[in-house]
Amino acid sequence: MIGKSAKSGARRATAYVCAECGSEHSKWQGQCTDCGRWNTLSEIALEAAVPEKSGVAQSRRSGWAGKVDPPAITALKDVTVSEESRETTHIGEFDRVLGGGLVHGSVVLVGGDPGIGKSTLLLQAVALMAQSLPGLYVTGEESLAQVAGRAVRLGLPLEGVHALAETCIERILEQAAPMGPRLIVADSIQTLWTETLTAAPGSVSQVRESAARLVRYAKETGTAVFLVGHVTKEGGIAGPRVLEHMVDAVLYFEGESGSRFRVLRAFKNRFGAVNELGVFAMADKGLREVPNPSAIFLSGSREAQPGSCVMVTREGTRPLMVEVQALVDHSPLSNPRRVAVGMEGNRLAMLLAVLHRHGGVAVGDQDVFVNVVGGIRVQETAVDLPLLLAVLSSLRDRPLGEMTVAFGEVGLSGEIRPVPNGEERLKEAATHGFKRAIVPKANAPKSGKVAGMEVIAVERLADALEHA
Ligand code: TYD
Ligand code: MG
Repeated sequence: MIGKSAKSGARRATAYVCAECGSEHSKWQGQCTDCGRWNTLSEIALEAAVPEKSGVAQSRRSGWAGKVDPPAITALKDVTVSEESRETTHIGEFDRVLGGGLVHGSVVLVGGDPGIGKSTLLLQAVALMAQSLPGLYVTGEESLAQVAGRAVRLGLPLEGVHALAETCIERILEQAAPMGPRLIVADSIQTLWTETLTAAPGSVSQVRESAARLVRYAKETGTAVFLVGHVTKEGGIAGPRVLEHMVDAVLYFEGESGSRFRVLRAFKNRFGAVNELGVFAMADKGLREVPNPSAIFLSGSREAQPGSCVMVTREGTRPLMVEVQALVDHSPLSNPRRVAVGMEGNRLAMLLAVLHRHGGVAVGDQDVFVNVVGGIRVQETAVDLPLLLAVLSSLRDRPLGEMTVAFGEVGLSGEIRPVPNGEERLKEAATHGFKRAIVPKANAPKSGKVAGMEVIAVERLADALEHA
């Protein structure tokens, strides 16, 4: 939506970009017509006042900043495909989330709350990769002494790691050029600014333009770039959402305050699976990998408690045991509360309606709180059945059977629908010593057993509730 002035056909020097959805508008307006949010538009300068070639204009809009070749139509089968070359970060869980290592020339945004461990993780990665990929750690938040001090304390190999305390993007690229790093970490993108704009550092236009410069640099030189981004209260990267469109991968670093476990999740990845999880523990020597994370998401004792149901979720490419908890309690409010932590709130409301209609269990006068243990978020529908079993268990104040797991989607007409990779989930549960599984019929093996675990196949919500 970059406007062209009607008379000259020359491009406007400015546009307005929405901080929420990243859409561009030719003039300022109170509400973004694309996402409907108010007061989210801010002005950005489009530096090219000279008429641009159409290809370049296109690249500006999409944030893609590669070199523009003359357009040439090619049969897709004739295009030479090169395996994108990857470099291991020497941190297995990090490699997993990246899709099997860091791709040369890729730009990866790592978002997360302040203090979650973004700088720690990237400093570790830069140091461990320095042998194969000379790195430049650009710090805009901490002094060089702080960065070096942390590296020493973490016992990292510092050979080949360079650091730069600088926030002006022009000067960063100017200094980087002669050194020719193969990896740049920009910590954080919110501190960077460009001389071409007058807006304050941290503003939407500065963040966006600085990121665009780095993306362009990455694509032109084949340098891999990590951008560190802080997350706002709403959960997005502070500044424009548009960053998410500009980069190749967006990883979020999550974790409960008070818990030492951290989950790195791929939210977008052009080079790998989304929703892939990497699990870390923050220790006194920095972030340590947790290669077998199932255990940590189950609450300590495996004694059955009312209001708890263990499920096998499949995030990315591996199954993971997590515990879903519910607390159902009489509500003093005329409009009882429904609170979901770690899963979607609207889905909770919908499932409670299904529970009433097709399970004959009414919770209309009860507050319902649900939580996924360990600060992890479950985004797949396989959580439906375990969630309702946990709710029922809390309402009746009776534990589900000892060592019981469940998974399955619940449809609006009360049917239990299959979920992908049922067999793999069942095997994972059996490996962890579970004795009984309540699962959708289509996910259950004919024999009714998986590695000694009893598998109960259910077709309707009512059946499932009965077995529970
Ligand atoms: P940091 O990487 O600075 O977070 P971010 O860059 O995301 O803001 O991590 C800071 C927190 O991590 C801080 O609260 C202390 C903790 N920490 C440890 O517990 N052990 C360590 O070895 C390090 C380096 C940090
Ligand atoms: Mg930091």
